[in-house]
Amino acid sequence: MERNLLTLSQLIISWLFISCGLTVAAGSNVPAIFVFGDSLFDAGNNHYNRNCTAQADFPPYGSNFFHHPTGRFTNGRTVADLISEFLGIPLQKPYMEALAEIVNGTQNKYPSNGINFASAGSGVLQATNSDLGVTPIQIQLQQFHALVEQNHIDTDIVEKSMFFIESGSNDIFNFFSPFYIPTLTPDDYVQSMLVEVESFLGSIYKLGARRIVLFALGPVGCVPARALLPGAPVTKCYGKMNKMVKNFNMGLEKLVDGIKARYPGALGVYGVVYETIQIFRANPERYGFTNTTGACCGYGTLGGEVQCGMEGYTVCNNSDEYMFWDFFHPSEHTNKLISKSLWGGNHSRIRPFNLKTMANMTME
Ligand SMILES: *[C@@H]1O[C@H](CO)[C@@H](O)[C@H](O)[C@H]1NC(C)=O
Ligand SMILES: *[C@@H]1O[C@H](CO)[C@@H](O)[C@H](O)[C@H]1NC(C)=O
Ligand SMILES: *[C@@H]1O[C@H](CO)[C@@H](O)[C@H](O)[C@H]1NC(C)=O
Ligand SMILES: *[C@@H]1O[C@H](CO)[C@@H](O)[C@H](O)[C@H]1NC(C)=O
Ligand SMILES: *[C@@H]1O[C@H](CO)[C@@H](O)[C@H](O)[C@H]1NC(C)=O
Ligand SMILES: *[C@@H]1O[C@H](CO)[C@@H](O)[C@H](O)[C@H]1NC(C)=O
Repeated sequence: MERNLLTLSQLIISWLFISCGLTVAAGSNVPAIFVFGDSLFDAGNNHYNRNCTAQADFPPYGSNFFHHPTGRFTNGRTVADLISEFLGIPLQKPYMEALAEIVNGTQNKYPSNGINFASAGSGVLQATNSDLGVTPIQIQLQQFHALVEQNHIDTDIVEKSMFFIESGSNDIFNFFSPFYIPTLTPDDYVQSMLVEVESFLGSIYKLGARRIVLFALGPVGCVPARALLPGAPVTKCYGKMNKMVKNFNMGLEKLVDGIKARYPGALGVYGVVYETIQIFRANPERYGFTNTTGACCGYGTLGGEVQCGMEGYTVCNNSDEYMFWDFFHPSEHTNKLISKSLWGGNHSRIRPFNLKTMANMTME
């Protein structure tokens, strides 16, 4: 009998260890992630926003992992989701879903593992795609601000959490749209974007953010959707667009380099996403790709002229071998490679240290 009890308590203890292991990864001091950005990270906010026409809440989005559409703009998980898994915490709910659950009474508080505010189509410039009803990062920030102010999020959690900021691709893509009438030079446009990012950083720091992760833009000039732009080549990446992206990324890294001095007690890292993706593109077989140019799901030139799921689309049966799932967005396979490189990679992938190291650092 005593033996049995002992075994039972041992079982309970080992179960506790297992469940702790599942809750927060060994060596991690990060209980939550707050996610800001665009379609690369949107986990369904636009889906819950009935005013918004930038959507991926229909098949075959989500088909290779969730097996149903979730509002994510890929066939599976996003980079934010995959890093959350590395941290050992459940995936962050879209803010709009958490809000709806509080409004209809199915939940009485906001989740403790963080919240995803990202909105597909949005940019760092407030005007970007405003006609589509997207939520720009300035409004995403206000949503977070209100939760902090109303004590819906524990300040202790905020201080330990990671803050993901991933935005800017839509601003730059739209600069080349035939409907955009440039009032700024490419350089001034990029500077105006960086001003917004800088102001965003100051605001989240004031609200308590201490572990700040800025993701560089990928090579936006290589997305299949460039087939929609009159000036873009289809046999190679759009150099002019990539040049703007690289300028923006350089400014972004400077902002990250300044975090320690400007914001006492805060840590900042810069994810070197552009160069990392170009390395995948240059060595497709090594990374499991047979197609790094076209969309697995879509229609027209490069599969980039029609959104996946829209009239006339076709879908490949080997999405893991495609760099792009649809006209703008990486496949889950690409997202997995990127998140691995950010979690455990060296200086060529993320600087000044990787997310695994950041997660294990304690905040004074
Ligand atoms: C976390 O950091 C401590 C030292 O601060 C180190 O001993 C430990 O191995 C680290 N754990 C992981 C998982 O990196
Ligand atoms: C949708 O638009 C209406 C009318 O403009 C506005 O009152 C409402 O707040 C908007 N809803 C969301 C979720 O943005
Ligand atoms: C409450 O809202 C959530 C999110 O929109 C939804 O999934 C759920 O079905 C709603 N529940 C009720 C009882 O209305
Ligand atoms: C890659 O996919 C695109 C879109 O499906 C297609 O047009 C293109 O021919 C493919 N390229 C290769 C090398 O298979
Ligand atoms: C996958 O698609 C290719 C053409 O895109 C086709 O030749 C092949 O038979 C398909 N394989 C399966 C298992 O459906
Ligand atoms: C950094 O990692 C990359 C990719 O894993 C590798 O090719 C490179 O040699 C490493 N560089 C250093 C300085 O360790």
